[in-house]
Amino acid sequence: MKVLHISSSLFGADGKSSQLASHFLDQLQARHPDARVISRDLARDPIPHLDAATFQANITPPEDRDEQQQALARRADTLVQELLECDLLVLSVPMYNFGIPSTLKAWIDNVARAGTTFKYTENGPVGLVQGKKAYVLGARGGAYQGTPNDTQTPYLQTFLGFLGITDVTFVLAEKLNMQPDQVPEILDQAKAEIDQLLQD
Ligand SMILES: Cc1cc2nc3c(=O)[nH]c(=O)nc-3n(C[C@H](O)[C@H](O)[C@H](O)COP(=O)(O)O)c2cc1C
Repeated sequence: MKVLHISSSLFGADGKSSQLASHFLDQLQARHPDARVISRDLARDPIPHLDAATFQANITPPEDRDEQQQALARRADTLVQELLECDLLVLSVPMYNFGIPSTLKAWIDNVARAGTTFKYTENGPVGLVQGKKAYVLGARGGAYQGTPNDTQTPYLQTFLGFLGITDVTFVLAEKLNMQPDQVPEILDQAKAEIDQLLQD
């Protein structure tokens, strides 16, 4: 089993979303010792915002790219390959200013590639990233689940679905800043949810 873990907490491994992912991956590897995990820390190694030249290079077929385009498309090619090759996608997702981290958005902008990760047909878009399962492990200062202010859940569900990843499970640790003295309990509860999901 190949697992791709994308993390985006400003605080690296100390981030609450990273802590949930670390628990998830430990538990997963205890159950599947053969699982191979590729981790991409977007705070430590940020992906530049997409610009026109990179976008153009990304959508140009490899055999038609000039030298400059080959260099520009190299990073996105790697990101797309990592995504296509994984069986399981784990996104640890902090909430920053009512949205996903901009570093995660930069990853999204690089892996959405017409003809490779999705295609348009007469009947609408079709995702080409098939046969994967995704877990989104979220950490938030406030409480938004089920409200219009939870911008992350519908956005990620829509985006992943657009690529063909429709089997998406969310585990959200909320109120981390509202109840600072309860942080260990909140995280423990989310970890117990993860344990339950991995048992199923
Ligand atoms: C720059 C920044 C912006 C934040 N914005 C929000 C927000 O809009 N809503 C919220 O509920 N919490 C917000 N928080 C709190 C984080 O969601 C909370 O600290 C969470 O633990 C972040 O995940 P992490 O620990 O994995 O980085 C913000 C924190 C930071 C550092």
